[in-house]
Amino acid sequence: MTTTDKDRVVIFDTTLRDGEQSPGATMTHDEKLEIAELLDDMGVDIIEAGFPIASEGDFRAVSEIAQRSKSAVICGLARAQLPDIDRCWEAVKHAKQPRIHTFIGTSPLHRAIPNLTQDEMADRIEQTVTHARNLCDNVQWSPMDATRTEWDYLCRVVEIAIKAGATTINIPDTVGYTAPVESADLIRRLIETVPDADEVIFATHCHNDLGMATANALAAVQGGARQIECTINGLGERAGNTALEEVVMALKVRGDIMPYTTGIDTKKIMHISRRVATVSGFPVQFNKAIVGKNAFAHESGIHQDGMLKNAETFEIMRPEDVGLSGTSLPLGKHSGRAALRAKLRELGTEVGDNQLKDIFVRFKDLADRKKEVFDDDILALVTATTEGD
Ligand code: KIV
Ligand code: ZN
Repeated sequence: MTTTDKDRVVIFDTTLRDGEQSPGATMTHDEKLEIAELLDDMGVDIIEAGFPIASEGDFRAVSEIAQRSKSAVICGLARAQLPDIDRCWEAVKHAKQPRIHTFIGTSPLHRAIPNLTQDEMADRIEQTVTHARNLCDNVQWSPMDATRTEWDYLCRVVEIAIKAGATTINIPDTVGYTAPVESADLIRRLIETVPDADEVIFATHCHNDLGMATANALAAVQGGARQIECTINGLGERAGNTALEEVVMALKVRGDIMPYTTGIDTKKIMHISRRVATVSGFPVQFNKAIVGKNAFAHESGIHQDGMLKNAETFEIMRPEDVGLSGTSLPLGKHSGRAALRAKLRELGTEVGDNQLKDIFVRFKDLADRKKEVFDDDILALVTATTEGD
């Protein structure tokens, strides 16, 4: 299957905005600049650099990221209020390609907070999107909690935002409530129903409260969305956002059924994942897809033996493609003789069959007592068996 421009998915990274909103994930100014540079270098199309009205620090970070940007579009977030939008523009206007992202909660629960009627909110959307568009050619609009907004009202406000000049319409699943089949259907029906929907790009912004953010984002793409909003390591409010590394690798590995491309250099994934984990203070869980410590590690004998014969037996992607030097075969009580011999070779030690047998017995005994057996442990076993200990 060949892909065309219509199949190019724009990657919008919001690690520095939605990601930083995770309680405890605050980053310093310099850390934000570093992460923005890494995102730009890895080929992220749009960086949501912060929420300029939120604080003086956020304003400064967004402005400086905008000034230093190379090829990414730099976006700032603004509520549906004119002073927010003006402040956002002040920060992003230095970028080679600036974007204003303005939003308002459109579901009944969210409309109740500012206590606006449907008509009053519709007027506010028209006024604020028009204002943003008068400042900037690139305007994104989001109906927050879109997936719990009444269908007719959602169509109405999306139409108003498009008429007022929004160039991207983002459909957030703010509370991670949607299931994949609904995610695809919602985008498809919006594109079919709203006048001039084909003039704009539809985006998907999924939260992970039910662990479905990645599946929902990919389903939305199949429904017609061409921008995925995501964060490194899935950082974000509550259970987080769609993880950039997951959607990008899913599209790369499963191009047979999802023939869409991104501009991401996947070899840069692991480095940025580690940097975001460090600067945010949010360690990556060991079994996290793509970037977890165990994502390319195999301990059991059957798996290690298979991996030593053919890496495709237990890996669907190459560790090198995400920036690792290779697969890891840690030795533990489930490991077999083949992995032990491979480890000995890696350590520069060749042993005969009898010595290997002896080392293996001692190794199993040690592994029963230790969680993981390290290189030094193995070398000690070699010495012990050589000396006939
Ligand atoms: O989750 C959400 O609805 C958001 C919006 C501000 C886009 O982050
Ligand atoms: Zn969000």
